[in-house]
Amino acid sequence: LCLSAFMGAYSRTENLSMNQNSESSSPFPSNFLFGTATSSYQVEGAFSSDGKGLSNWDVFTHKPGKIMDGTNGDIADDEYHQYQEDVGLMEEIGVNSYRFSISWARILPKGRFGKVNKQGLDYYDRLINALLRKGIEPFVTLTHFDIPQELEDRYQSWLSPKIQEDFKYYADICFKKFGDRVKYWVTINEPNVAVIRGYRIGIWPPSRCSASFGNCSHGNSEKDPFVAAHNLILSHVSAVQLYRTKYQKKQGGEIGIVMDAIWFEPFSNSLEDKLAAERAQSFFLNWFLDPIILGKYPSEMKEILGQDLPEFSKYEVEKLKKNGIDFIGVNHYTSYYAKDCFFSECEPGSGASKTEGFALYVHDKNGISLGDKTTVDWLYVRPQGLEKMVTYLKERYNNLPMFITENGYGEVEDPNSTTRDIVNDVQRVNYLSSYLNSLAKAIRKGADVRGYFVWSLLDNFEWKYGENVRFGLHHVDYGTLNRTRRLSALWYKHFIAQNLPHK
Ligand code: NOJ
Repeated sequence: LCLSAFMGAYSRTENLSMNQNSESSSPFPSNFLFGTATSSYQVEGAFSSDGKGLSNWDVFTHKPGKIMDGTNGDIADDEYHQYQEDVGLMEEIGVNSYRFSISWARILPKGRFGKVNKQGLDYYDRLINALLRKGIEPFVTLTHFDIPQELEDRYQSWLSPKIQEDFKYYADICFKKFGDRVKYWVTINEPNVAVIRGYRIGIWPPSRCSASFGNCSHGNSEKDPFVAAHNLILSHVSAVQLYRTKYQKKQGGEIGIVMDAIWFEPFSNSLEDKLAAERAQSFFLNWFLDPIILGKYPSEMKEILGQDLPEFSKYEVEKLKKNGIDFIGVNHYTSYYAKDCFFSECEPGSGASKTEGFALYVHDKNGISLGDKTTVDWLYVRPQGLEKMVTYLKERYNNLPMFITENGYGEVEDPNSTTRDIVNDVQRVNYLSSYLNSLAKAIRKGADVRGYFVWSLLDNFEWKYGENVRFGLHHVDYGTLNRTRRLSALWYKHFIAQNLPHK
């Protein structure tokens, strides 16, 4: 009794925004979602089975030279056929939620220009029901980078405003069919990454790039990335509006968007570098979140891009303001230093963009590194970045609820490693535990974070890197498709049990 009275006082002084666990010192609210995450193209396989249409990623990965190890997602983890086993792995860990995505081309092989594929709907019905039977909440993304190739071929997908109709049409089918059981919807996964890699750097479909950015030999229009982003934002809001007007009251769920959220530290204490870090945030994250939450693009984007930044009509501004999101989905893995390149020179090859005037570094002015390097070139371990990121979002967007929709540790598997090496993923355990600790600090200081998902349940097809980069709590042997539990899965199980004692 004494202890719980003390904890009550503790939670009040700490100003936690949701029901805190009253019987433990866990900072995570008792209704917190602890889950694992995946996406359709990365785990399902069955790329042309049961009436599925081709997606942009099916077509892209089949072109020679696009994927570093020459693999593709035709089979991936074959979750399409092995979902029951995968739900079993989740049950064993004790997660109370699973974040997955629906393959748009499995539901609408030709977009709205063709028929609905009933076998596709049936698959997600089976998956959702299997999860619910085990008490696992489905947390569902409508599009996680893969879209029907038909939309690319017909009108260049995100470059055309026509895609807004297609996305809304598709969202309608999903809400209608699954919304009785799905209470968490994500419209789009990481639109910022899709645009930068697909339309600026050109290393992802549809392989378009801007001459002002990096090594682009066949520069497309400088405006393209901003047009694609504009249509992504308008597609998102059309789906939200539809959900609000037609489904939300009846079904009682929530809807949000997921962003890749890198934390940017200034390269030095100079005002120029501080401004560069803010610019980096604007051009990466607020680019989408500001219009979606505040109804307008960040002012610095407008100033720098001028005519290259599309404008929202009055009607669209109203639509955006009326149809905000219920939560921000935060995918956070790493941090970078941002250095000013307007007032000083940036090293060639540092990824500097002439337009935005900043470059990203993994060490600061004094040569101090961000954190431990991993075997994945973009991933540096800097746990404090998560607390800073969440705190930044809390302040900028008035403590809108957040979910950490992805966080995880990737590594390149050494071909000589033994099974023992493969399952003893001590570095992944250290990564997850230090990031969760950092998240706990932000929650203790009042950030309204309602869930956390490890990327990923199991090794899967890591886009450009193919099968070579592994993020799984379970190892997958791509020859046999056998799943083997890693130490990190066991560690996560204990972590959840300690922090969700009522489960
Ligand atoms: C974010 C993406 O949403 C996911 O698809 C990817 O595998 C992870 N990051 C790791 O890179």
